[in-house]
Amino acid sequence: MAVAELVSVVAVLASAPAADAEKRVFNMTIEDTTITLVGSQKFHTFAFDGQVPGPLIHVAEGDDLEVNVENDTTLPHTIHWHGMLQTGTWQSDGVPDTTQPAIQPGETYTYRFKAEPAGTYWYHCHVNVNEHVAMRGMWGPLIVDPKNPTDTDKRVTKDFILMFSSWDSAYADKPGYGGVPGDVADFFTINGKAFPDTQPIRVKKGDFVRLRLIGAGDELHSLHLHGHVFQIYAKDGHPLPAPIQADTVLFGPGERYDIVFEANNPGLWMVHDHIDMHTVNGKTPMGGIMTVVEYDEIPKDQPFYHWAHKQFVPDFYYEESLKQPLGLHENPAFKGTPAP
Ligand code: CU
Ligand code: CU
Ligand code: CU
Repeated sequence: MAVAELVSVVAVLASAPAADAEKRVFNMTIEDTTITLVGSQKFHTFAFDGQVPGPLIHVAEGDDLEVNVENDTTLPHTIHWHGMLQTGTWQSDGVPDTTQPAIQPGETYTYRFKAEPAGTYWYHCHVNVNEHVAMRGMWGPLIVDPKNPTDTDKRVTKDFILMFSSWDSAYADKPGYGGVPGDVADFFTINGKAFPDTQPIRVKKGDFVRLRLIGAGDELHSLHLHGHVFQIYAKDGHPLPAPIQADTVLFGPGERYDIVFEANNPGLWMVHDHIDMHTVNGKTPMGGIMTVVEYDEIPKDQPFYHWAHKQFVPDFYYEESLKQPLGLHENPAFKGTPAP
């Protein structure tokens, strides 16, 4: 091959896209669904695929997504893809009366957009957000894997998603109402469950752990991890130029923080909202946003331990789903029952 030909072949190769963007097509429904927050406290939600949180959408940076959303409830909804750039696709931003008409009961709407930027994102309804997002469970995680993972990304051995929300039990069975000034939230959940019905975060010594924290409700949270220093590594999906070392992180509605830590201190370690009012169930203390980092090395059947005989649900923090091939992953742990 002549040198000139070689040069032109190289030029063509250099101009080709680095990695092929996958086209990914997903179908979702929105369903009137009763979920249980804790004990006997039930709540009427408008649930994506009948689960709260909604299914994990896990894709790669640059993928072309097409999501068909069928509204099987009696009220209008949309989906907003919080943080997605929507370059050239503003009509898929999911805002009723601004980018689209709301999806009416019985209708289907198709969203088409590129998954960018990379990081921890989420999706939520944008109709009557004060009710639908604040207390009807209309949210789920959207994780976009980076084309060029950082050294920190590459170190992660255990990856968990935690979505935080609050609820006002006065509206539990009054769909179409609630989320107005004067309401007082009295239940607080991680991935739709309040302590003691949350799940432990299981690690082993030597793990490098990432917790993807997503503020999906309407309250502030001040999450504290005992026994470790973590790095606040990314804000709203974007790695910080200089990670912050901390043991407590404050985040508000819509915000995401990725925090990472070395599992270097075997034990049973409390994780809780340090806004102490968020660790109640209704009028009863010792509930809400509490869980425990459990090391495999430590026996769980200690007589004093409140979770000594806990039924463990491995995918409660999407840990198993995150290891599956990219795609949309429903989670049986979050399924409710059809609401009357
Ligand atoms: Cu809605
Ligand atoms: Cu948002
Ligand atoms: Cu504490």
